[in-house]
Amino acid sequence: MSATKLPIVVLLSGSGSNLQSIIDATAKGMPVDIRAVISNRPDAYGLTRAHDAGIDTAVLEHGNFADRESYDQALQQLIDSYAPKLVVLAGFMRILSDDFVRHYEGRMMNIHPSLLPKYRGLHTHARALEAGDEVAGCTVHYVTPELDAGPILMQARVPVLDGDTPETLAARVLEQEHKIYPEAIRQFAEQWLKR
Ligand code: GRF
Repeated sequence: MSATKLPIVVLLSGSGSNLQSIIDATAKGMPVDIRAVISNRPDAYGLTRAHDAGIDTAVLEHGNFADRESYDQALQQLIDSYAPKLVVLAGFMRILSDDFVRHYEGRMMNIHPSLLPKYRGLHTHARALEAGDEVAGCTVHYVTPELDAGPILMQARVPVLDGDTPETLAARVLEQEHKIYPEAIRQFAEQWLKR
């Protein structure tokens, strides 16, 4: 019997509101099976969201590893034990080693809170405000070894409003993240199911 749902693993470090949008989309019929949610932080609220949705969770703390390579090797083994066809980074606050990224080339996505190629890295909203940008947004992209530089899959734009702070702008962008991330995953799933 061929699979009817795309198996995915989600990696996160924090609140997991993007994870929630993916969980909600699967509840509404998106053909995706979230096999596991993995966090490098034991206190990530995203783990609670996963648990509440009946999804397997695992914690792999980077503090227990000597270096990035050994952490990433253990993480890769853990991810692959769930045999995902797509790895979804949803606020996973780690720089990834090249070998790890290459292992998942073309099957690992990230969401970034800026209109890439603008503002790779951190503090994207403060940087957009400092630059006087009139439009901000978010980007879903494939992960490649260069940080936040992989092929773009989907973007959404929002206006920057008078009086915006990094927090108000982040909240407006996050609403769009919750739309385009499940949508990009759905498109990947539909392609995969047609294979
Ligand atoms: C989001 O802003 C996302 O763009 C960035 O990390 C944040 C994660 O938020 N990569 P959440 O944990 O999904 O709420």
